[in-house]
Amino acid sequence: MKRIFVVIVIVLGFAGIAFSAGGVKKKKVLEQDFGNVILDTNSLKAGVNPVLFEHWVHRKAFTCRVCHVDIGFSMKANEGGIRAIDNMKGYYCGTCHNGKSSFNGGEKLFASCSDKFNKEDMKRCLRCHSQEKPGQERDAKREQREKAFRTFADTMPKERGGNGINWEQAEESKTITLVDYIEGISTKRPPMANQKDFTIGAKVEGVPEIIFSHKKHTVWNGCELCHPDIFVGVKKGVEKYSMIDLFGDKYCGACHGKVAFPQSDCRRCHTKQVQ
Ligand code: HEC
Ligand code: HEC
Ligand code: HEC
Ligand code: HEC
Ligand code: HEC
Ligand code: HEC
Repeated sequence: MKRIFVVIVIVLGFAGIAFSAGGVKKKKVLEQDFGNVILDTNSLKAGVNPVLFEHWVHRKAFTCRVCHVDIGFSMKANEGGIRAIDNMKGYYCGTCHNGKSSFNGGEKLFASCSDKFNKEDMKRCLRCHSQEKPGQERDAKREQREKAFRTFADTMPKERGGNGINWEQAEESKTITLVDYIEGISTKRPPMANQKDFTIGAKVEGVPEIIFSHKKHTVWNGCELCHPDIFVGVKKGVEKYSMIDLFGDKYCGACHGKVAFPQSDCRRCHTKQVQ
């Protein structure tokens, strides 16, 4: 009984942190919006609409590693300084969105930015530059996108929170197939050494320990997405981190809560039955 009480107090305490982090109570993110990133380093300044990038559209087809290691997208929104000129030269979005490439037997992908364009091309621009300008009415295409999300999500294994999709299970059951290599961009990698799964013991009594699975993470992330930037990873237990760090988007929180399942799902990390 005492144990349960301790855990409840902690849960309530953390809920408080999660709410007060931005000073205001966070609005619940809709399933189709979870993982969406608004890119506006230069768009509004240049007179075009900001870009709305949807992780769900892309992570159903690619590993995180392809984009965040091989192509080199930043793990923090608007830190990468993506420019129209780079996209035009075939970097960043232009690596795939070049009017030529196709993946998994799909259609040729529409091209990225261009400095010369006519009215017809504008439709293409607006597929990416689709975030409403301040004061602009809700984009009519939003409903279509929400429908597309629903249609897709309905075919996926379910999960509470985040996109409402159990991505781990979707990958494992081969409901989705992930591209992990792009010709001419990705380097040939030696087969990955298998790292053992291990437990991270929580420091507070009554909090179930965490089982961290290397095997499950490397499918999506390879090694380089975590080592050495997020975890130095020389030896487990050397670097100390707490839930407060995680809520501050560090360590596990660099992905969980933004793109991978949210931190409110305590039981998915704090359980002995993760395996
Ligand atoms: C098709 C490419 C692509 C794939 C696949 C992809 N990402 Fe991203 N990700 C991006 C881009 C683009 C950004 C924004 C970068 C910028 O602003 O410079 C981003 C940003 C992020 C951010 C920062 C978000 C924020 O709000 O600050 C995180 C975290 C992230 N990605 C994690 C992941 C994880 C985890 C996966 C795999 C499950 C993944 N990404 C798959 C392209 C991708
Ligand atoms: C690794 C290859 C790759 C990269 C890099 C990439 N995309 Fe895509 N993108 C795709 C593929 C493949 C699809 C088609 C997915 C589908 O229809 O199932 C797609 C689809 C889209 C769509 C259409 C979504 C819809 O509503 O139909 C948009 C918009 C988009 N990407 C924007 C971007 C932006 C913005 C960037 C750069 C920040 C980017 N993509 C980078 C591969 C990529
Ligand atoms: C595949 C997605 C995609 C498409 C299609 C696309 N863009 Fe972009 N564009 C981007 C991204 C991502 C950025 C960087 C956004 C930011 O951070 O402001 C960008 C930035 C820009 C900028 C800002 C100035 C700069 O130097 O970065 C301009 C102007 C621009 N695009 C014009 C266009 C035009 C015109 C078209 C249509 C012919 C177009 N784009 C189509 C993804 C796209
Ligand atoms: C999702 C993030 C993530 C990925 C991906 C990942 N690791 Fe780790 N790794 C960790 C964490 C967390 C630790 C524990 C270190 C810590 O807590 O600071 C760790 C620890 C290690 C250690 C030390 C182990 C020990 O017993 O002390 C090695 C070696 C290692 N990782 C190698 C790898 C290799 C090789 C890969 C790719 C096959 C990989 N890691 C992929 C997060 C990751
Ligand atoms: C993404 C995985 C993950 C999720 C989700 C998660 N935790 Fe944790 N939690 C951790 C890690 C990692 C630690 C640090 C373990 C260590 O080294 O002591 C931790 C530590 C803790 C601790 C020990 C004190 C501290 O701050 O280090 C408590 C209490 C705790 N978590 C409660 C929660 C509660 C309550 C939730 C749900 C709101 C939650 N956790 C969700 C991974 C997670
Ligand atoms: C580089 C990004 C990244 C980091 C850092 C990261 N994860 Fe994950 N994790 C993922 C992705 C992607 C998945 C797949 C599921 C999803 O996207 O929701 C996942 C899945 C999991 C799962 C679910 C496994 C299952 O069987 O369902 C657990 C548990 C987990 N992570 C715990 C942790 C813990 C604990 C840490 C920190 C020690 C951590 N993660 C750090 C990206 C990350």
